[in-house]
Amino acid sequence: MGISIFPITESFAAEIGDVDLAAPLAPAELAAIKQAFWTYAVLIFPAQTLTEQQHLDFAAHFGPLETSVAALNGKARLRLRADLADVSNLNSRNEIWGKDSRTRMIQLGNRLWHTDSSFKYLPARASLLYARKIPPIGGHTEFADLRAAYDALPDEVKARLEGLIAEHSLANSRLRTGFTNFTDAERAGLPPVPQLIVRTLPETNRKTLYVASHAGRIFGLPDADGRALIDQLIEHATQRRFVYTHRWRVGDLVMWDDRCTMHRGTEFDDLRWTRDMQRATVSDVANSCEQESVAIPAA
Ligand code: OGA
Ligand code: MN
Repeated sequence: MGISIFPITESFAAEIGDVDLAAPLAPAELAAIKQAFWTYAVLIFPAQTLTEQQHLDFAAHFGPLETSVAALNGKARLRLRADLADVSNLNSRNEIWGKDSRTRMIQLGNRLWHTDSSFKYLPARASLLYARKIPPIGGHTEFADLRAAYDALPDEVKARLEGLIAEHSLANSRLRTGFTNFTDAERAGLPPVPQLIVRTLPETNRKTLYVASHAGRIFGLPDADGRALIDQLIEHATQRRFVYTHRWRVGDLVMWDDRCTMHRGTEFDDLRWTRDMQRATVSDVANSCEQESVAIPAA
């Protein structure tokens, strides 16, 4: 029997059944999953039981794995191996973090609309988030379809966006939440990087917006105008009609295409409930400008 696909909307987010991601996948299963991934951009695999290694092995079918940003901060003790991002509210002793903990302040940025690792020169292609423990209320994850958002733009706006390049940095999104306390090593490891604002997905030839709270200025525009345009595009793309809200169940693995979606975590009582999630992240093949041979402007 092949995998089952249950679309949530016609072209965004689908549930995938009849597959055990802990076991080796047949080539036909993997091909069907990839095809669904290019179509829907968000896939939900319910009721999976995965070790860290099985989670990473499944992710590796989609490309090389990223090292988590937390691993850049040599001082922090990590709860998970460095190729998994710890998206929990737990410290390295598995206790709920303190109100003023640094990790808590940094993770607050996940509540803003973003796409993973757009602040890296080689950004993320796909993220795979696995729920080990979830709070009884709140703590959902919302996803916005940036392909549909692009399609819905007026032609004049599409023309104006063509070829524009934004500068992305982790400091931009964290500044929006009030966090500025990066270590020198973190700063040096994460300089601002260029990314196209409109990109084309090679598998489907569809165009998509590529924006995030990590974006700051736009090359060739006054800083304030660039920021205003980014904010306006994020607001456009996150209208309810482009958004799917995922309510987690333990054992869900949710996979999204970082090239054409944004996501954000919703609020929950993080000092009361444990929310234990881990993310494997697959790197893109090249910087977004390089992929489309767009010259990168001098800083
Ligand atoms: C992520 C992320 C949001 C959430 O894992 O990349 O942004 O709801 N997560 O945990
Ligand atoms: Mn994220």
